[in-house]
Amino acid sequence: MTPENTKGQYLPSDEYRKTAMVKSVDEYTRLYSESMKDPVAYWVKQAEHIDWFSKGWKEPFTWNKKKDEFTWFKGGKLNVSYNCLDRHVKNGLKNTAAIIFQGEDDKDVRVYTYGQLLHEVERFSNVLKKNGVKKGDRVAVYLPMIPELAITLLACTRVGAIHSVVFAGFSSDAIFNRVADCTPKVLVTSDGSYRAGKKIDMKGKVNEILERDTSVEHVLVVKHTGADVVMEKDRDVWWHEEMEKVPLKCEPEVMDAEDPLFMLYTSGTTGKPKGMVHVNGGYLVGVNSSFRYIFNYNPGQVYWCTADIGWITGHSSILYGPLSVGATTLMFEGVPNYPENDRFWQVAEKWKVDIFYTAPTALRMIRKNGDDWIKKHDLSSLKMLASVGEPIDADVWKWYHRVIGGGRCPIADTWWQTETGSIIIAPLTGAFDLKPGSAMKPLPGIKTGVFREDKTECGVGESGNLFLMEPFPSLARTIWNDHAKYVEQYWATFPGHYLTGDGARIDADGDHWLLGRVDDVISVAGHRIGAAEIEAALIAHPAVAEAAVVPVPDEIKGEAIYTFVTLKDGFTESEDLKKQLINQVRNVVGPIATPKTIQISQGLPKTRSGKIMRRLLRKIAGGSSQSELGDTTTLLDPSVIESLIKGRL
Ligand code: PRX
Repeated sequence: MTPENTKGQYLPSDEYRKTAMVKSVDEYTRLYSESMKDPVAYWVKQAEHIDWFSKGWKEPFTWNKKKDEFTWFKGGKLNVSYNCLDRHVKNGLKNTAAIIFQGEDDKDVRVYTYGQLLHEVERFSNVLKKNGVKKGDRVAVYLPMIPELAITLLACTRVGAIHSVVFAGFSSDAIFNRVADCTPKVLVTSDGSYRAGKKIDMKGKVNEILERDTSVEHVLVVKHTGADVVMEKDRDVWWHEEMEKVPLKCEPEVMDAEDPLFMLYTSGTTGKPKGMVHVNGGYLVGVNSSFRYIFNYNPGQVYWCTADIGWITGHSSILYGPLSVGATTLMFEGVPNYPENDRFWQVAEKWKVDIFYTAPTALRMIRKNGDDWIKKHDLSSLKMLASVGEPIDADVWKWYHRVIGGGRCPIADTWWQTETGSIIIAPLTGAFDLKPGSAMKPLPGIKTGVFREDKTECGVGESGNLFLMEPFPSLARTIWNDHAKYVEQYWATFPGHYLTGDGARIDADGDHWLLGRVDDVISVAGHRIGAAEIEAALIAHPAVAEAAVVPVPDEIKGEAIYTFVTLKDGFTESEDLKKQLINQVRNVVGPIATPKTIQISQGLPKTRSGKIMRRLLRKIAGGSSQSELGDTTTLLDPSVIESLIKGRL
């Protein structure tokens, strides 16, 4: 059992500590303060863990503060797939498992050694080339969680193409908008996917999208479910047929550290998702270094991150982080509760998983189903646990520690974002006395700060806006096609410092407590959804005059979506209309954005300049009374509040 100290903190066992990369607080403190004295020197040292074709940078770091442009290792040459595959094959990991794929069907298993994975990636790189993909071209990826997804991404990096993964849970409109923004030459998809026993069509959706005018010249289709699909002549080709037609060898393209590696869309405070651009050198240095620090991976272990590759966690924590260090990463196609509620634990037991990384939403759902599902399984292989995507409250943390980790496994609550590319704040579990509910400290090389609205620094324990004080290698460089937006969103609030959009406080020990988003971004089951995207979808319905969307606490998903809608003249409230509005959001944004509640109201609280006061709506949706709302007299029409409270659902 892990002993607790007198302050209610959890200490790592001596046995665990021995296997960790950083073994004591003193060691961390030394490392951290050295990294703060000279962050550039620190990151240059981290870059030594990457194989460079040439370290040709003149300056490891440049920063044009006027334009909010910065570079790391510019002039250095590398290839990401080479770092994730070739170098491990050369260094003795040829026959070590790189990816263990566990399909939804328990019998659907494929294991790729580093040697085999390299072979497949080289072949698929040649398929991309055969279909016209060149360095700098974009490739859209709309695939289920199958090995071909990993092979596609690695092949893109090999030929220098920029991949753009679109999460399978989005609607056709949302996918179309992303494709229209990044203008890919090729789209890689599959005939379908499995979800909780059902076959889900994917190719049909792609066909629908490509009926509209897009840049896509070829669609490469993986046969996965065997569903009947419509293939368009000259445009669509089968993965397995193409793989037979190409040479087996493909040399990795020499990429500059600052060449774009991939883009990934994420919701912001406007209706338009932003394509965050990550680059080859800095991103790889960041994910490689954070993986080594956080997970204490030891050779021979099996590491499992349950995320979907449609999100940054999948990119960095299933693929590039673990593969860059030569780890064995488990890729799982299924869901936690199919065929039964113990699916995760059955998989963990089957593959003797050592390190397990998931999201609080999954943990809350699993906890609700009862501990018996977990106790049926031998989870003694687990050594370390981690969490990502939302705040994990102390109660769920302790349950995770006791029931999943058998009281033996330390937990890393890891805070980061699509924009940061790699983990930024998290405990080093071999060194720290863990505080349930806190993500604790920034990794070496990262300086954080919590500030008030007036940009004065918050005191100990005081909540404020979390900033990352200086650019670090894995921070996104820009928004695809929209640097002005990047500047406005992240750098304009406090020039020279990166605005995270999260609230936080730092306690007397320097430990960070994350408090969720402070902007109009909602986190449903850990997935970021912009309130503005949902509002835009609602306003597109003929009956809707105005819409305002706010989060409400949800027992399982962390936050759920509560919408306030006013109707145009001539329309009246009805259950049918509400259903239409819900479908409208599902069709335009996707099922992940399904509103939990639709409240039709006569008006919305607005300032005299016409701005909707979402802050008040959040409180109303959350159950506050009139007196808890504070001063509402500055509203254009204060009487609207009473009717909103009365109509609350
Ligand atoms: O609000 C924070 C929350 O997730 C946001 C980032 O979402 P996304 O870009 O989709 O990336 C998620 C996975 C890296 C953050 O702004 N968040 C992420 N991790 C945590 C968290 N909130 C609290 N604690 C965390 N550990």
